[in-house]
Amino acid sequence: MAENIKTIGVLTSGGDAPGMNAAIRAVVRTALADGLNVKGINRGYSGLLDEDIVEMNASSVSDIIQRGGTKLYTARCKEMMTPEGQDKAAEICKKHGIDGVVVIGGDGSFQGARTLAARGVNTIGVPGTIDLDISCTDYTIGFDTAVNTAMEAIDKVRDTSTSHERISIIEVMGRRAGYIALWCGIANGAEEILLPELDNYDEKKIIANILERKKAGKKHHIIINAEGIGSSYRMADRIEAATDIETRATIIGHIQRGGSPTAKDRVYASAMGAMAVDLLCAGKSNRVVAYKHGEFVDFDIEEALAMKKNLDPFLLSMSSKLSR
Ligand code: ADP
Ligand code: F6P
Repeated sequence: MAENIKTIGVLTSGGDAPGMNAAIRAVVRTALADGLNVKGINRGYSGLLDEDIVEMNASSVSDIIQRGGTKLYTARCKEMMTPEGQDKAAEICKKHGIDGVVVIGGDGSFQGARTLAARGVNTIGVPGTIDLDISCTDYTIGFDTAVNTAMEAIDKVRDTSTSHERISIIEVMGRRAGYIALWCGIANGAEEILLPELDNYDEKKIIANILERKKAGKKHHIIINAEGIGSSYRMADRIEAATDIETRATIIGHIQRGGSPTAKDRVYASAMGAMAVDLLCAGKSNRVVAYKHGEFVDFDIEEALAMKKNLDPFLLSMSSKLSR
């Protein structure tokens, strides 16, 4: 165990994600089991800069593994993006005797972690975002719960859409990432999946496809729209006018970010939180925990941030064949 690690801090940053509580719990309990002190930093970097820091013990994380959201609250913090804010954050860690910080969040939060590591505070990132858009990892905390929540909501919309023989445009989260949309598109048997990564939105083609499918006897047309594509309400108005078929838009929204995490999110988040503490104890810093090719691994943060990830081409091509 690294001699210089006696107290670790843990924070959640950026958008919350179901399973973050399981990760916090794992960090706290693993650290305590290893004889370390743990401090919870409330409201991400914003709370760090405000010195909103609390001692944590085993019971601080009781009764949270099954809860969505994050017990430590989360925030977006502009000040942390300035060198002055980063200097101050590192000084506060040192003032509070925090030798290492576990940062649970997305790529933006890892950028913040990198700046702390550069100022001598050991940091480990744990990937937490419902968007699945962190390139170094095949799993991010919250995606599994969010995609299942969206899938169940879309099934319900489909029931009423079919009964009325309507077109439904259903907007899922993901301003810049289409993973929730692609997975729901496949899992819900959607006719169209609109993805921000493809940049190929073609309304005329969508309308032609709807009319062709209607002729072939289809009773509903489910269009899954990732948040980044454009207004689902205006799209619905235009498509209704062009097809003469009643069209409704549904925005699932923040329901996707909340709720009790799935077993996968609880277990993987626990493993990642525990691994982050193990890495700090092994004297590592500026690393991010990942799940790659069926294994929990870790990468240098710079290396992780430089990686690129594309939507799986096989999932894309097969989904378009299945939606006929
Ligand atoms: P996520 O972590 O989910 O990607 P954001 O991109 O909103 O979410 O980032 C969360 C927070 O991380 C920001 O509000 C900011 O405090 C910090 N952050 C983001 N980018 C940087 C950066 N380049 N340098 C330092 N801190 C950053
Ligand atoms: O990154 C998670 C996410 O829910 C995205 O899918 C979405 O685009 C964004 O956050 C919404 O953020 P806000 O918290 O500002 O509503």
